[in-house]
Amino acid sequence: MTRTYDVIVVGAGAAGLMCAATAGYRGRSVLVIDHANKPGKKILMSGGGRCNFTNLNSTPANFLSDNPSFCISALKRYTPQDFLELVERHSIAHVEKSAGQLFGRDSSKDILDMLLTECNWAGAEIALKTQIESIDTETLGYRLDTSAGRFSCESLVVACGGRSIPTMGATGLGYDIARQFGLKVLPTRAGLVPFTLHPELKEHLAPLSGISCPVEVSCNGEVFREPMLVTHRGLSGPAMLQISSFWTPGDALSINLLPEANPRESLVQRRSARPQSQIQNYLDDRLPKRFAKAFCELQNWSGPLQHYRNEELDAVADVLSHWQLKPAGTEGYRTAEVTLGGVDTQGLSSKTMAANDQPGLFFVGEVLDVTGHLGGHNFQWAWASGVAAGQHA
Ligand code: FDA
Repeated sequence: MTRTYDVIVVGAGAAGLMCAATAGYRGRSVLVIDHANKPGKKILMSGGGRCNFTNLNSTPANFLSDNPSFCISALKRYTPQDFLELVERHSIAHVEKSAGQLFGRDSSKDILDMLLTECNWAGAEIALKTQIESIDTETLGYRLDTSAGRFSCESLVVACGGRSIPTMGATGLGYDIARQFGLKVLPTRAGLVPFTLHPELKEHLAPLSGISCPVEVSCNGEVFREPMLVTHRGLSGPAMLQISSFWTPGDALSINLLPEANPRESLVQRRSARPQSQIQNYLDDRLPKRFAKAFCELQNWSGPLQHYRNEELDAVADVLSHWQLKPAGTEGYRTAEVTLGGVDTQGLSSKTMAANDQPGLFFVGEVLDVTGHLGGHNFQWAWASGVAAGQHA
């Protein structure tokens, strides 16, 4: 027996649930299918358990894509303010962390419960633990054979996310569906992901695990001024996660450890005023002390400042402002917050998220080649693209 719906959404994550509720409110019969045992697992783990659900300052400039103008239309039509109004209608307490980043005050679960309530009110059904075996076209749309039987629908929305964190249910199904129906899939790679280090540097820094310093990091023309966190595997924290989306293997990062200071001038002044003091004493006032000590050891900086000639102080200042670090790699999809690349948006309508040459087929959320910076932008894309498709599916 085939069960028929107007719309079937594959993936009960942020974009899929938003799309399902939107389509349901239009009076469409909607089924969301997910192979996982729970919906919205990434929502639950996001923002350190408190879901950074949007960013009030989100603009298209916060997104990476081969087709940068694609995201403009959906983001303009469903804004951070629109999502905030939804959150407030559900009386969910929230807090603004650094500039525009909105988090749930209590738990990510509040955001997921809100989406599930919206789906429920809109009459959208959710089938969990359901494996998709095959998808085919039929006269009036699509036929899906699944572990829970056969379904058919007029509109099929692919919302199965990217490859990041396979243990949370990520698979490449969305890309396979795109290819099956003739859409191009751009190469994917892990984004917003910690860096790993070559053994010598890793060993040197690992004892500092947990220490965070505000830095300015740049790579391939992009610059972020945010905290850097040393971990037992390498480097993480917002600065490193942000720049990882712009890094390609073999690139060096340029890290300014003292973005607020002019180390050349300060070191020269200090050498005159306190000739016996050391570079580490200067750094102790500006960086966590254990980090300052380990960094001086790494650079072989020892002895009183009076022993440093001007050219040597120039070289020290240069390292402090432009520490060139070549990561060994990244932690990859295992811990990446997002997947860069994905379904090529050139084949889709930016207004409806529908495939141009395949009637009734829609793609939303992270499966697309649209990836946000850290700070709530990725969920904003999930909401905005989900709504765009939900209005037309
Ligand atoms: P999402 O991955 O959420 O959902 C896809 C769904 O499809 C899943 O339910 C999955 O089980 C299902 N699926 C996959 N393959 C399937 C298959 N073969 N069959 C059936 N179902 C299948 N962003 C942000 O803006 N603020 C934040 O605070 C964070 N924090 C954060 C922390 C961590 C640890 C991670 C990993 C990610 C974030 N993100 C984030 C990113 C954010 O979670 C992400 O961009 C969105 O969840 C993407 O939403 P989607 O609905 O597109 O995919």
